[in-house]
Parts: sequence; C-alpha cells; structure tokens
Amino acid sequence: RALRQSKDQKFPAMKNDTLLRVVKREKIDHLPIWVMRQAGRYLPEFREVRKVWSFFELCDNPLLAAEVTLQPLERFPMDAGIIFSDILVVPKVMGMDVIMEEKRGPVFPQPLVEPSDLEKLSIPDPESLGDVYDALYLFRQAVEGKVTTIGFAGAPWTLMSYMIEGGGSKMFSKVKKWIFKWKEESKKLLNMISDVLIEYISKQIEGGAQIIQLFDSWAGELGNEDYWEFGLSYCVRVATEVKKRHPHTPIVMFAKGNHSDMVFKHDCFDCVGIDYAWDLSLAAKYSQQYNKVIQGNLDPGVLLAEKDTIREKTRKMIDVVGVDRYIVNLGHGMWPEHDLEHLAVFVDETHKYSASKLK
Ligand code: CP3
Repeated sequence: RALRQSKDQKFPAMKNDTLLRVVKREKIDHLPIWVMRQAGRYLPEFREVRKVWSFFELCDNPLLAAEVTLQPLERFPMDAGIIFSDILVVPKVMGMDVIMEEKRGPVFPQPLVEPSDLEKLSIPDPESLGDVYDALYLFRQAVEGKVTTIGFAGAPWTLMSYMIEGGGSKMFSKVKKWIFKWKEESKKLLNMISDVLIEYISKQIEGGAQIIQLFDSWAGELGNEDYWEFGLSYCVRVATEVKKRHPHTPIVMFAKGNHSDMVFKHDCFDCVGIDYAWDLSLAAKYSQQYNKVIQGNLDPGVLLAEKDTIREKTRKMIDVVGVDRYIVNLGHGMWPEHDLEHLAVFVDETHKYSASKLK
C-alpha cells in the first residue's frame, strides 16, 4: 500500500498497448480482445481457488485478486486484464451487507425498503476500497506491460437496483416504485452512489487502472427517457468528474439492453459497449456517425457452437465494424459451462483475421 501511494510510483513500460492505441485511434497491427468475466468459474484454476476462499475474501485480498486476474492471461493472449472484484463492493462499503450465494448470486439480506432507509447509508472513506487499488497496483506490476489494465465499477442505476431489489430481479418492481413514486429520494440515492463512484474510480486510476468500464447491467429495464433521467445522466456526471481529474484515461460505457444512440452522444465516453442483442451493423453505423470506438458483441452462446461457427461469427463481426475502431469482446460475460478451447478459438481468430486485414 505504501508503494501504491508513494509519489514516485512507477509502472513497467508497455509492451502491448493495442487496446489503448485503438481507443486513441493510433496504428495497430491486430484488433485488441478481452472478454467480460474472463476471470471466473469456467477456469479450473479459478474453481480451485474458490474451494479455499469465499468470493468476497478474494475481492478483499489484493494478492489473491491480482493472481486471479492473471489466470486467464496465462492461458490466452488477451490484450487486457480486468481486475478481479465485483460491482457490489461499493454498496458494501456504503454500509450494506451482501452475501454471494452459490446458485442465486448476490443477495442483500436487508435491502433498502423505503426512503427513511437512506439514513442507514454512509459516504465511505475512499481508502475503505483500498484493496481494489492495491490489487490494480499489484496486477499492473506483475503483468509487466504485456496487457492493458482495466478497472471498473457498477453504474448508479444498476447499484441502486441491487440495493433495493436485494439481488437479481425479474420485474424490478421495487426499484421502479422508488423512481416513480419517490423521485427526489431516488435521485438523492443516485447522487450519493455517484459521489462514491467518482472517488472510487479516480483512486483506481491512481492505483494503476489504464481504462475504466462502467457496467450498467440493468440499463435495458428502462425506456430511453427514464434511462436518461435515472441512469445515463448519472454516468455522464461520474465520467465527466473523473475526466476532470484524469483526462487521459478512457472510459467504456456498457449500458446493457439500451440499443439506442444515446450513449454515443457523450464526449465523456470514449468507447461504447455493445451487448449481444444489438444489431451490430446499426452499432457500427452509430460508431461512424459519432466517431466512437465500440466494444462487443459476440453472443456468449456462440462459444457453445462448433469451432468453425465461432471463427465464422468472429470474422463477420470484424467485417461489419472494421479494423480501426473496434475492441473485440463478448456481448456479456463468460459462463461457467464454457469450454477453454472454444474461447481460445475466439481470441486466435480475432488476432489472425484482424491482422490479415490490417496488413
Ligand atoms: O473477469 C471479470 O470480469 C472480473 C471481475 C468481475 C466480476 N463481476 C467477478 C464475479 C466483474 C467485472 C463483475 C461485474 C459484475 N458483478 C456485474 C456487471 C457485469 C454483468 O454481469 O452484467 C454484475 C451485475 C455483478 C454482480 C454479480 N456478481 C452477479 C449478478 C453475480 C452472480 C452471477 C454469476 O455469474 O454467478 C456475481 C458473482 C461473480 N462476480 C462471479 C465472478 C467471477 C462468480 C461468483 C463466484 O465465483 O462464485
């Protein structure tokens, strides 16, 4: 921690900065690729670690988190590593209990029920998330410039949804009651989360993150007008504030389920994440129109197909978007049942096919 906080903190020189180069629209020799949830249960070595440590024990241990972040990179020539953590560490330090249940995923035993519950929340000292910044620092040192280091956070709307629904949800009726019935109190909560995120993301960058992704996993639960009012406008505020402090760190906005051009319209986002349900040619059209890099969007289900199908779909994506403004990725995270060799084919085809087009 002392090293991370020291003024003459230095990182190894970059040997492969393809991902950062494509965001800056500089010359590259292949398209960069990483995949969401690349550190996860599809990896036998991750499952081994999880036999010994609980999910949040991993998140709270910088050495283990950095080690788990390295796991996929030892198998696949990805162009980036996303730090192992979870979006829910933020509600945790704001005072909420979160448990990770084997089959159900995250559960909040005491969700926010009504506006008076906001009094239970606190604005944490940003260093209470110091384990995440330390993990970023350690990972960036250990990876020796071979890949770009990605930091991330959940977006205010998605975090608010978890804090009120108490976990995953089908109808989002509880959080929708809040925004439509208790509008001002909802905005108070969204602003509170945004304040925490501004500090949290800035500190991730100071710890070693070279690019940041905002995950708005539940963006698609709202129509465009409501998503702007209760979702994207807070992401714009967070990204704009972070950019004032760290103008050169790119931000990727992944608003899963919103398939309009609204994310493309904001200068504070350098790249737009495209989920698997997008029409990629429409996303590519917006990418031209608004001059933005895009990231995505192979359906994770395609990795269950024959290897030739994976190769074919990969080439098609690259043909549709082109090789000058594209970060190849899945349209959502890896699944526990995914096969290692099939992911290897996706990575290999991306590198080979894009390199042949860039020659
Ligand atoms: O490799 C990586 O992507 C790095 C780490 C990462 C995790 N979660 C680890 C994780 C990242 C970037 C996240 C983000 C996250 N967490 C999101 C946004 C992305 C998305 O999926 O839309 C969300 C919504 C969460 C909340 C969360 N955490 C859920 C819903 C779940 C359960 C679902 C599941 O896959 O089991 C988690 C658990 C989780 N987060 C796991 C991992 C590797 C699996 C749990 C385990 O190890 O037991």
